[in-house]
Amino acid sequence: MPIIRMDNIWYAYNRGTPIQTNALSGLSLAVSRGSFVALAGHTGSGKSTVLQHLNGLLLPQKGRVLVEEADTRDKSFRRSLWAKVGLVQQYPERQFFEETVFSEVAVGPNNLGLSPAEVEDRVLEALAVVGIDRKRARETSPYALSGGEQRRVALASVLALRPGVLALDEPTAGIDFMGRQRIFKALADLKSQGVTIIMASHNMDDVARMADRVVVIKEGRALLEGSPRQVFASQGCVREAGLNLPFPSEVMARLREKGFNTEAPALTVDEAAEEIIKCVGARKTAQ
Ligand SMILES: Nc1ncnc2c1ncn2[C@@H]1O[C@H](COP(=O)(O)OP(=O)(O)OP(=O)(O)O)[C@@H](O)[C@H]1O
Ligand SMILES: [Mg+2]
Repeated sequence: MPIIRMDNIWYAYNRGTPIQTNALSGLSLAVSRGSFVALAGHTGSGKSTVLQHLNGLLLPQKGRVLVEEADTRDKSFRRSLWAKVGLVQQYPERQFFEETVFSEVAVGPNNLGLSPAEVEDRVLEALAVVGIDRKRARETSPYALSGGEQRRVALASVLALRPGVLALDEPTAGIDFMGRQRIFKALADLKSQGVTIIMASHNMDDVARMADRVVVIKEGRALLEGSPRQVFASQGCVREAGLNLPFPSEVMARLREKGFNTEAPALTVDEAAEEIIKCVGARKTAQ
């Protein structure tokens, strides 16, 4: 049974006004417990709008969103929904308001009404997951950190609530290579602990590397869904959605255009290298 189900949801911003924008137009998807699902789509396709439906920040205007079988429109479920689904928004660094990183991460647990000792435990645990030094966290303002560190603080703020579902909106956009590695390590650790992860991303290399399932979104609808291997094999569909292929798949596609006899789309550099060695070897033998 999926942990999250979206059934034919519709959502328009500024509905009924001259500036109405249709963001979701009959989108359906299901997320299995413990999986890592990537929402891939061009700018404006509706990814952030989908994520904001997961914790009830937005409610569908048509259709329904079920989290563990409970409807997000059910008011009695609202508080437990916030604890269940942690949402890290697209530009979380714009929302810091505490003086130190430590107190920023403590906001959520404090709101849960936990004792100071429990709050401290949760903050230290969350900081450890994202790799931020606890001493520095007590002395530093979140605004004094690098972009990558700020994203990790935002992630820690949500993790301190210990959500079973983590919804991440472009968690690595604008972050350097090392920062991305750290975030992905933290996410892989969380997944291994059974946390369900849903990530919106423009970056198909990140998607190919991290996701078990990919949902390609175009104009507020799910255009294609499958494993990264299935989805990136449908190159026409991926390009129709305005997306690139992961870099290794792109290299293989170009080699095919040049007449090299390569098969499946490579998702990793190692796979691409293996495939290239094979087809160069085959050419040499043929000559
Ligand atoms: N707060 C808002 N008010 C009005 N329109 C909005 C708002 N937020 C999003 N939209 C519009 O809704 C549509 C879907 O936007 P959304 O932000 O969900 O897309 P996205 O896939 O997350 O895009 P991006 O990749 O740029 O983050 C777009 O046409 C966008 O302009
Ligand atoms: Mg977005």
